[in-house]
Amino acid sequence: MPRASHAPRAAAFFSEQPPRLRISAPGRVNLIGEHTDYNDGFVMPVATEQALFIQAAPRRDDRLRVGSAAMDQTIEATLEQIAAARAATIASARVAPRPFDAWPTWAAYVLGVAAMLLDEGVAVAGADLFIDGDLPLGAGLSSSAALDCGVALALTTLVGSNIDRVRLARLCRTADHRYVGTPCGIMDQFACLNCRAGCALILDCRDLSFEHVPFPTADVAILIADTRVRHAHAEGAYARRVAECREATRILAARRPDIRSLRDATPDDLRAAAPDMSDAVRRRAWHVIDENRRLHRFADDLRAGRLETLGETLAAGHASLRDLYEVSCRELDDLVDVLCRAPGVLGARMTGGGFGGCVVALVRPAAVAEVQDRLKSEYDQTHDRPARTWVTLPSAGATVTVLE
Ligand code: GLA
Repeated sequence: MPRASHAPRAAAFFSEQPPRLRISAPGRVNLIGEHTDYNDGFVMPVATEQALFIQAAPRRDDRLRVGSAAMDQTIEATLEQIAAARAATIASARVAPRPFDAWPTWAAYVLGVAAMLLDEGVAVAGADLFIDGDLPLGAGLSSSAALDCGVALALTTLVGSNIDRVRLARLCRTADHRYVGTPCGIMDQFACLNCRAGCALILDCRDLSFEHVPFPTADVAILIADTRVRHAHAEGAYARRVAECREATRILAARRPDIRSLRDATPDDLRAAAPDMSDAVRRRAWHVIDENRRLHRFADDLRAGRLETLGETLAAGHASLRDLYEVSCRELDDLVDVLCRAPGVLGARMTGGGFGGCVVALVRPAAVAEVQDRLKSEYDQTHDRPARTWVTLPSAGATVTVLE
């Protein structure tokens, strides 16, 4: 069934009807709370100014036709084909191969969201979608969640259904599990849909309650630095971390049955159970337990305007991801190192899943240009790929604009 061809530019793409909607779906950069979401813990992302844009038009038939400017591809499937693929997935108890494996990866996300809407009994109709934007793809700023969420918003808005954004985030996350096979947490989808401009979002990943905490944008700039490296073992290693955390939870729960996830465990619980754990499993659990505590400290400092101490918490978070969770890499460590030595930088750490991708740094606004110069002289000179940097304001979650 896969059908992919080159994508024409947006104007030529909409041959049947002009676009009716324009969705802007941002990426996210997580300030603190890494690898805690799938442990029922806490995360603190901000949405980036960089976003995917999706223009959407209804069709008269039941085809989903989707063009990607970045991939220079157009894919097409009928809703009947998507429905058949989802029925097969459910019948085979969701094991590999997944129904959209033969499609380009980006298309599997799009079709997975459509299939998931059908699974949830949400109406979907034929549509033309055209995707472009300035969010870098595959850089660890959560472009795949932006794609999920943007497509979900486009398809539901086109048929006039107004789904609550908490439900929509959950639905997109489950689509990734079921139809793409990534065992991700809910942070990225939730951030894309629910962040607020000027604020960091604190999300409790257990009950999905959240709070918007004003970010001091006049005093602190958020600098993102991309290693432009993505190590090939990243996906397998992510899935292994998820499994190790489950194993830690199982061992902890043998002593305290009310521990349902690492979020429920205290340092004392872990000390008591540590002899029953492998070294790796114990270190993963330490990271998660400490990282949730770091997030609360960071949040308190943010609320109280104690900006200087934010950096210490970021540094401790990076050390833990490097040494205990073991998801950093040389490029990320080197970038953090150069950034932390630069005047005007409050602190820096790797952000997102790890094994490449980006570092987030909190920088005094007046020092940003100098910090960028320093990266050129102290990082770019000694690495194969020069780092790419952006400054972002904490931005709003996805927006829908009705055209016409
Ligand atoms: C990836 C996943 C998220 C989260 C982070 C690590 O971005 O998609 O759910 O687990 O890694 O914090």
